[in-house]
Amino acid sequence: MIKIDVVLGLQYGDEGKGKITNQMASSGKYSHVMRYNGGSNAGHTIYVKGQKVVTHLVPCGIFHGIPSVIGPGCVVHLDKFLKELEYLNNLGYFTHLVKVAYNAHIVTDDHIEEDSKDTRIGTTKTGNGPCYRDKVMRVGKRAEDIPELSDMIIDIADHGEDYKILAEGAQGYWLDIDSGDYPYVTSSSCGIGAVLNNGFSHKAINSVVGVAKAYSTYVGAKSYQSEDPRFEEIRKEGQEYGATTGRPRQIQWFDVDEVLIACIRNGVDKLIINKLDVLEKVDNSWNVMSPWANKKEIINFDNKSDFKSFILDECYKSLPNMKVEFQESPL
Ligand code: IMP
Ligand code: MG
Repeated sequence: MIKIDVVLGLQYGDEGKGKITNQMASSGKYSHVMRYNGGSNAGHTIYVKGQKVVTHLVPCGIFHGIPSVIGPGCVVHLDKFLKELEYLNNLGYFTHLVKVAYNAHIVTDDHIEEDSKDTRIGTTKTGNGPCYRDKVMRVGKRAEDIPELSDMIIDIADHGEDYKILAEGAQGYWLDIDSGDYPYVTSSSCGIGAVLNNGFSHKAINSVVGVAKAYSTYVGAKSYQSEDPRFEEIRKEGQEYGATTGRPRQIQWFDVDEVLIACIRNGVDKLIINKLDVLEKVDNSWNVMSPWANKKEIINFDNKSDFKSFILDECYKSLPNMKVEFQESPL
């Protein structure tokens, strides 16, 4: 039976999905690692054998000798993609393991030029929005139309029954085109439905790992960060700058409701909360946002253990069977 384990973001991207996917891919359990949405607007910073590697499109299977698939829900800019393969090749990874779904869409230079004029949403200027628009308008080009990709083309939906796929998402649930704070969203679906749209049955989903950070970050045109000098420190300590654009990420405290709603809607079996050490280093800022009398209040805890207990309690109240794990920064 085909089985898919999913890694998805529960906030606004940059939760550390790349790190978690990489940990899971190293288990030897998977036949494929597949990206299921987005394009090179994403940036995964991961540490492989102590070496920092930044990828935008290629899934991390290649670090473990596993076929790495860019799924039908993704969009690909040929030159950027080939450059990324060259970068990975130079680092010593076998890029012949990289496959592209025949029906993934192609980002053109015109898409990038159009997107680069955006000031309204604060996009990553990687051409994603215009490319998905052309897909929906049915005037787009697909990977199968590009001769340079012919050796890499795959139909992932026509899968073998014994496939064990690790499916990694880009962005996060609150950047989802439908569920996010429209128009301050990305152009693709980021939730569990997006995995199925790559050509799979819901029965193929074996487990869903949701990833969050111990605080929240967002990059884009809307105002998100409130006044608090500790946010600047968190940005520095947590290196919260866009992996794709270098833009400073806006910071906010961990929003309990936001993360729990994302867990419920996406059927998360295991929640991983990253980067606890950053709050510790910034003056033990053990804060969360939680609704109180219908408005969001900041609740402060004296220490890490009270912070964790509060989150665990809230998770247990809503999702008693969900596992919860806390992690520190990478390496
Ligand atoms: P686009 O996906 O480039 O169109 O950008 C739309 C919004 O999503 C902007 O606010 C981007 O900053 C945000 N965004 C897109 N991809 C990522 C990501 O991988 N991490 C964080 N934010 C992202
Ligand atoms: Mg990122």
